[in-house]
Amino acid sequence: MQTFDDIKALQNTLAAWRREGHRIALVPTMGNLHEGHLRLVDAARQHADRVVATVFVNPLQFGPDEDLDRYPRTLSEDQRLLAGRGCDLLFAPGVDTLYPEGQSSLTRVIVPRVSEGLCGAHRPGHFDGVATVVSLLFNLTRPDVACFGEKDFQQLAVIRKLVRDQHMPIEIIGVPIARDHDGLALSSRNRYLDEEARAQAGRLHQCLVDSAQRLEQGDNSEQVLAKGLQQLQQAGFQPEYLALCDATTLCPISTWHPGAVLLAAARLGNTRLIDNLVRAS
Ligand code: PAJ
Repeated sequence: MQTFDDIKALQNTLAAWRREGHRIALVPTMGNLHEGHLRLVDAARQHADRVVATVFVNPLQFGPDEDLDRYPRTLSEDQRLLAGRGCDLLFAPGVDTLYPEGQSSLTRVIVPRVSEGLCGAHRPGHFDGVATVVSLLFNLTRPDVACFGEKDFQQLAVIRKLVRDQHMPIEIIGVPIARDHDGLALSSRNRYLDEEARAQAGRLHQCLVDSAQRLEQGDNSEQVLAKGLQQLQQAGFQPEYLALCDATTLCPISTWHPGAVLLAAARLGNTRLIDNLVRAS
């Protein structure tokens, strides 16, 4: 696997692959890779001849009080994991390479509506930062296909909308959530959890499973959501939201039909966890 941190080298290789007729898949990440990320690489392999991963801790998508400085950076381990999974190229640029004129004057990409509620309401500007960097990475690499995890369900919805609105010829693949033994969705931020918090963290997924079961039984959605929030509080979480939404628009809905999704965000101490459960069709 080749690793590049400069744009010219990346684009020369991609141009050569395109001339050879290869189909190219992109897997954007912020590094500190785990099995969830590597499943994206597996999915990418199934849809393309060449897999390009990116590792870039994007300052634009972190709020002023968020964890940009302490976000784990583990590039050599990431390289080892990606190579082991058959990734062909890693692009790991510095901030100055991607934003050479600085961040304050940078052209931004905003995806209205779908980015506004849920995490967007609790992390102002976050999805503008995500949409901006993802569209920049799409422009740099011009992939045929790009893979994103369903763990960040709202992010996936924002990117699908971005690609539709901009008529980008990129197929977006959503990859199911990789979970730990107790159901906790794998996340680079799980390493912030101490032993006690880690023992509790699986209760977030359990709350979604229980809420889905109540909806399945035909219980009233408002009552189910209220009970779910209570369940989270009792388990030691400070919930930000628990919502029942349409999986495409992320607008709130009240019926548990195919195409519905339960989404939750909650803090456990200083760690913010998110999870979701899609209604099987
Ligand atoms: P990051 O948090 O590193 O995640 C990179 C990709 O891995 C995202 O598509 C995310 O949804 C996926 N992923 C993370 N944990 C997962 C899990 N347990 N199961 C399945 N997929 C999982 O998301 C970002 O980075 C950034 O916002 C990015 C898109 C790279 C833009 O900066």
